[in-house]
Amino acid sequence: MKEQLEKIRQAAAQALDAVETGEALESVRVRFLGKKGELTAVLRGMGALTPEERPVVGQLANEARAYIEGKIEEKKAAVAAKEREAKLKSEVIDVTVPGRRKLAGRLHPLYQVLNEITAIFTGMGFSVAEGPDIETDYYNFEALNIPADHPARDTQDTFYINDNIILRTQTSPVQIRVMEQTKPPIRMIAPGRVFRSDAVDATHSPVFHQIEGLVIDKGITMADLKGTLEAVVKGLYGPDAKIRLRPHHFPFTEPSAEVDVSCFACGGKGCGMCKGEGWIEILGAGMVHPKVLKVGGIDPEVYSGFAFGLGLERIAMFKYGIDDLRLFFENDLRFLRQF
Ligand code: PHE
Repeated sequence: MKEQLEKIRQAAAQALDAVETGEALESVRVRFLGKKGELTAVLRGMGALTPEERPVVGQLANEARAYIEGKIEEKKAAVAAKEREAKLKSEVIDVTVPGRRKLAGRLHPLYQVLNEITAIFTGMGFSVAEGPDIETDYYNFEALNIPADHPARDTQDTFYINDNIILRTQTSPVQIRVMEQTKPPIRMIAPGRVFRSDAVDATHSPVFHQIEGLVIDKGITMADLKGTLEAVVKGLYGPDAKIRLRPHHFPFTEPSAEVDVSCFACGGKGCGMCKGEGWIEILGAGMVHPKVLKVGGIDPEVYSGFAFGLGLERIAMFKYGIDDLRLFFENDLRFLRQF
């Protein structure tokens, strides 16, 4: 039995030498000291010994156990240190590696200008409405007092989906939609895309943006129109900006005007930007035609109002000195990053 104990001790020492991981260590412990372990088996066999032999062998067995336990503790510390080292190595962070740059998006210049204009109008109590890009002939033309033979209906300008459905050529149909749904007083703007079958060049695009405006209440006059637009233009181009109204014709307003703003580049003296004019046309406007009010369900005997349609691209071009409309739609980052 003595020899057997010595063998176990040696076998345990050998097995422990080879251990590299916590798992291997545990299996060695079970193999020798576990309930069914080799040393435990020897201790169980002690019942067969004589009373004289028992204390001697018992002492030897205890020594063997203590030896193996000691070795296991030693190994445990060594394995733990090794595992910690491996973990640290695998988790090392190289603080000298350059960071990854996050690319920040930004608003398209047209949207920046739109937000600016919207803020000016909402500051004056206007709400923001929307209408569909795909419109009916009725809302885009008929309801706006544009009869069937009007040149604006020419297929040259209008994208037809069928006889009745078109891509809206202006944001003015939103006037009708808002009047149908809202009782006066009305103060709204309606920004959106409009479509015309124009060939693309530096000043034309088949899709562009307008901001429609509509104000209806009792006693609204042309002076309200002028004052409102003046406030907007000063908000947009600065306190020195002026406007000028020129007589014009739109079927859905009467009287109608085209509105110019004093050239922001030369202040009105005339320069390359305004082609020597001193003025730049930015919108069409007028007093809402009584026929249009009626179509919208509003009594023209009681109410009056004004409407206007701003060209967003033109305003942005003059604000930033952009000379080619196509830049807005090509999404060239070298252009977009300048805003
Ligand atoms: N809808 C007109 C256009 O596209 C602009 C406009 C709007 C004129 C409202 C008068 C009133 O040219």
